[in-house]
Amino acid sequence: MHFCRMKRIVVFTGAGVSAESGIKTFRDSGGLWEEHRIEDVATPEAWRRNPGLVLEFYNQRRKQVLSAMPNAAHLALKQLEEKFEVQIITQNIDDLHERAGSSKVLHLHGEIRKARSSIDPGLVYDIEGESLLTGDCCALGSQLRPHIVWFGESVPAMEEAILMTSEADVFIAIGTSLEVYPAASLLLYAPEQAMKVLIDPRASRDKAGKEFTIIAKTAGEGVPELVHKLLNNYV
Ligand code: APR
Repeated sequence: MHFCRMKRIVVFTGAGVSAESGIKTFRDSGGLWEEHRIEDVATPEAWRRNPGLVLEFYNQRRKQVLSAMPNAAHLALKQLEEKFEVQIITQNIDDLHERAGSSKVLHLHGEIRKARSSIDPGLVYDIEGESLLTGDCCALGSQLRPHIVWFGESVPAMEEAILMTSEADVFIAIGTSLEVYPAASLLLYAPEQAMKVLIDPRASRDKAGKEFTIIAKTAGEGVPELVHKLLNNYV
């Protein structure tokens, strides 16, 4: 009996997939960082220098995420699961992929709804939408920190992400400037023979590579169109 396994689709998303949910991207004009410099709120030095400011910065982002809703792109990616084995690998710290119903989501840069011990990275707590305050401690008595990968910190999930990408039949990148490493290097691990697509209104050919099909549209428009095509005539 010929067993044809479900085709594997790896979807690599960045801030652009959540832009139409009202969550600002980082590098678009008026991006998130404008009222704060990255080095003041998203680095280990910032945490040592002024933990209260860092906690407040992520409390604001957590409130914004909670008030956002998944958009047509997130929902279309869930539909892909009808016919494909779908693995989302996201640079985003929001939970919109999960809330849209995607069942396999790997966060490369952490998750806004989680906090962790600042002495034992294995101690992670789901804090839902709560604010994280000075004095909130882990079971070992250390100050809880956002469960976020800050600039200059390693990306623990990168190895797993590379393995998943290396087994993809289809690799779709959505809404990422491909400027932050090592995340952006993921594109290099998609197999030669895999179908490769980049969806981004300002997609840069030079960053994606010539083997990528570029769909220069927003996620809300381009993702449902691509999903429809894949569900209806990809074999
Ligand atoms: N639909 C699709 N793409 C969009 C949309 C949209 N509606 N609006 C903007 N974009 C694209 C932009 O053209 C840009 O290429 O989304 C991308 C956003 O790029 P960045 O702001 O750099 O976000 P991202 O690539 O996810 O940043 C990577 O950098 O700031 C750090 O850790 C943070 O995970 C983040 C990482």
